[in-house]
Amino acid sequence: MEKLTERLLLREFIKRDVDSIAEFRRAPRYLEYYYRPAYTIEECVRFVDKCIAWSKESPRCKFQLAITDRSNGVLLGDCGVRTESAESRRGDIGYELSPVYWGQGFASEAVQSILQVGFENLDLDEIEARCVVANKRSVRLLRRLGFEETERVPPGPGRGEFADRTLPERYVFVLCRDKWIYSAIS
Ligand SMILES: CC(C)(COP(=O)(O)OP(=O)(O)OC[C@H]1O[C@@H](n2cnc3c(N)ncnc32)[C@H](O)[C@@H]1OP(=O)(O)O)[C@@H](O)C(=O)NCCC(=O)NCCS
Repeated sequence: MEKLTERLLLREFIKRDVDSIAEFRRAPRYLEYYYRPAYTIEECVRFVDKCIAWSKESPRCKFQLAITDRSNGVLLGDCGVRTESAESRRGDIGYELSPVYWGQGFASEAVQSILQVGFENLDLDEIEARCVVANKRSVRLLRRLGFEETERVPPGPGRGEFADRTLPERYVFVLCRDKWIYSAIS
């Protein structure tokens, strides 16, 4: 899949993206709300391999796309929308940018596009995003795109890839299809 926006091209990962991912996943600013040491090259290889494997699944339930600058092809970060099965009507999103590119609206632009994949390609009714309360940039992004807080989770064990860590207070944000259509036309 490829998605073009005003300034970006969202595309499938390729193996040689590992170096770009590893470069920003060791930046202290990037790691501030992940509460973990820098990602190793091996972890980044596994991440890129997983994204490539997801792109080949049928039916496809998980899209994790590289965010690139459409003018020069430079990888800025990545974002994704995932659901557990083709029947599920609820999914979640994730997004990350190299700190070099923060503060220019690139993540919001990319997430708007990945929301379209979630609501149109995956036919979801609701998309969730979990976000550490202290991660103000991410909170602003979600509110800007129409997400609403539905829950505040107290500090405690994470889930999925965060299952080995104690996480601080987090919001659960949700965007429903009706609200998305509203925010797309307003
Ligand atoms: C979360 C994250 C993607 C947010 O990045 P970001 O660059 O702040 O987000 P956006 O792309 O939406 O940029 C918005 C900012 O750009 C500014 N901006 C500048 N030019 C802009 C333009 N042309 N269009 C839109 N916004 C623009 C906006 O005013 C806004 O600034 P503000 O937040 O001070 O109000 C980034 O901090 C990150 O990658 N963090 C590490 C990973 C992470 O935490 N992921 C989320 C886990 S829940």
